Amino acid sequence: MRNIVKSAHQRVAESSSCLWGYSGLVASGDRQRAALLSGAIAAFGVAQLAGGSDSEGGHPYRHTGLGPAVEARWLTAVGRLVAEMRPDLAPQLLAHLGIQGLPVRRQGDYDSGDSADFASSTGSTDSASSLGFADSTDFAEFTDQNLLRGLSIGEIGVVYEALIALSDQHRRRAQGQYFTPDDVAKFLAAQAMEIHQKESNAQGIWLDPCCGVGNLAFHLTAAMPDPAEFISSKLALIDIDPLALKMAQALLVANFAAPDDQKALPALVSRSQARDFLSAAPLPQHDFVIVNPPYSQTERRFDCVTGAIGETYAYFLEKVIRESKGFVAITPAAHLGGKKYRPLRHLLQNTTGGTAFVFDNVPDTVFRGYKYGSTNTSRTNFVRAAITVCAPTPRQWGVTPILRWTNRSRAKMWANAAQYLLPLRFGPNGEWAKIMPGTEKVWDHLAKSSQTLADLVTKERTEYQLEVAATPRYYISATKRSLNRTSKHTLYFKTETEQNRAYILLNSSIPYWWWRCLDGGITLKLQTLLSTPIPENLAVSPNLVAKLAQDEYESIVVKMNAGLACENVQRPGSLVNDIDAILLQGIPYDFTKVYVSDMFSAFSQ
Ligand SMILES: C[S@@+](CC[C@H](N)C(=O)[O-])C[C@H]1O[C@@H](n2cnc3c(N)ncnc32)[C@H](O)[C@@H]1O
Repeated sequence: MRNIVKSAHQRVAESSSCLWGYSGLVASGDRQRAALLSGAIAAFGVAQLAGGSDSEGGHPYRHTGLGPAVEARWLTAVGRLVAEMRPDLAPQLLAHLGIQGLPVRRQGDYDSGDSADFASSTGSTDSASSLGFADSTDFAEFTDQNLLRGLSIGEIGVVYEALIALSDQHRRRAQGQYFTPDDVAKFLAAQAMEIHQKESNAQGIWLDPCCGVGNLAFHLTAAMPDPAEFISSKLALIDIDPLALKMAQALLVANFAAPDDQKALPALVSRSQARDFLSAAPLPQHDFVIVNPPYSQTERRFDCVTGAIGETYAYFLEKVIRESKGFVAITPAAHLGGKKYRPLRHLLQNTTGGTAFVFDNVPDTVFRGYKYGSTNTSRTNFVRAAITVCAPTPRQWGVTPILRWTNRSRAKMWANAAQYLLPLRFGPNGEWAKIMPGTEKVWDHLAKSSQTLADLVTKERTEYQLEVAATPRYYISATKRSLNRTSKHTLYFKTETEQNRAYILLNSSIPYWWWRCLDGGITLKLQTLLSTPIPENLAVSPNLVAKLAQDEYESIVVKMNAGLACENVQRPGSLVNDIDAILLQGIPYDFTKVYVSDMFSAFSQ
């Protein structure tokens, strides 16, 4: 058993090769941090202790799935952290966490780091075996470490997330226990502060209805002018996971309560509930909500208008919309465009208004964390996210384009995202269009077009055909030659003229830009492709058609996908520009940012 603890230290030391912990940090170049997290996670010894969860009698936290031994270790680690941080509140915090046998030291004892006394005073066989240790020496070694010291609240969330996933990945997935990174939580908190200060005169009570370890509440509290007063009287918490809720309360009080304030914890506890947020029971009193709800497919409900969607986050948003005066939410972006999410869009449209920030998942992604317990080949969390901010006073909805940035520009992206907001415009099926500034006149012109690509195609197979790759990333093009790839659309036309009109249209910037405005997910749906509007100036130029045909052989690109060659034709920028100039004559436009992989780098400002 001693190996568990030893291997944690070894892992920390082996920072450069450790990829198991927090891949987002590794991607950002912060390998030392990633290794620190890996070490902390390994120290809990989940692999050795896995299994034996709820079925064991008397287990108090039925929603964690951690199992009694891992859970006891986790509580001990949180207890050690908060007790060291707040000797003035340590007995209260440890009692709250239900920890016994962890000695409460005086301030001077902490400074001297006297672990020998501690080891002997905690070395009872009972405590050791409840934590899954074979002997009291190993137990003492584990409990004397402050495994969470120096970790940010977001990183503590990552460790907890990892323990849940490694213990019971099915439950973790079902409960959507994926935690928000610190910089994202800070951005949400900044949005919330706008509401709090400008629109509620700093009076409103904030609820986090699925608080996890409390990272959103943490960053919101940190942004408040008087954090101690905020946790004592203006914050309410809910989570279905009672262990997470207890931890959130303890961490918030340890970080923000005023010195010797024994009232802060009971006050926060009195405004908290361990429960299903969606149940009918009355919610704690609140004005505003800050939330990262669980994302998971679930059964239909009959008690709400979004009930047919079958997505937990839609149900959460509906309830938040109905129950609060304003909110800040981070969710997947699917509801802005998806057909089945129409009822949710209608609900949002009927609120006071606000802003929706939309984020791509490459090159960088909002949730950079590792998908612990994932069985996919890609283990990074690739959710395309949206942040919705709904303010209490009426305003027009503003929506960004799908923001794209690299890790290097991440901080700049948060600082400048709001510059990309444009007033909400609707797509043909009520989609919230994600329009790039510089192209709004194109939208205003083309969204009114009387004709779309659907008017040119025929269902019959004819000799006049075009192929379009169905998984675009940075461009869309059309070819007359057949593409050696599986994911593609084949379009048929009755006449050569119609084929050539579509050929020119589909090799302009319009189809890619249109798809990014309406969808921008992984695949190009046929319905979206066929809805591509036709500009008035679309006419067949034999010269252009010949150039495009010639280019099909010159601009072929081949990418390997799951071991299979995947062909496409990436048209030269100059050729696409020439077509755009013809099709959009008289309309001001700038498509540059539609194509760039980093809208926030110095080169694309
Ligand atoms: C996506 S995590 C977000 C946690 C944290 N607020 C954050 O931003 O990192 C979702 C949280 O919701 C909790 N949860 C899942 N279903 C819930 C429900 N029906 N009611 C309340 N909480 C729930 C999970 O336990 C988890 O802590």
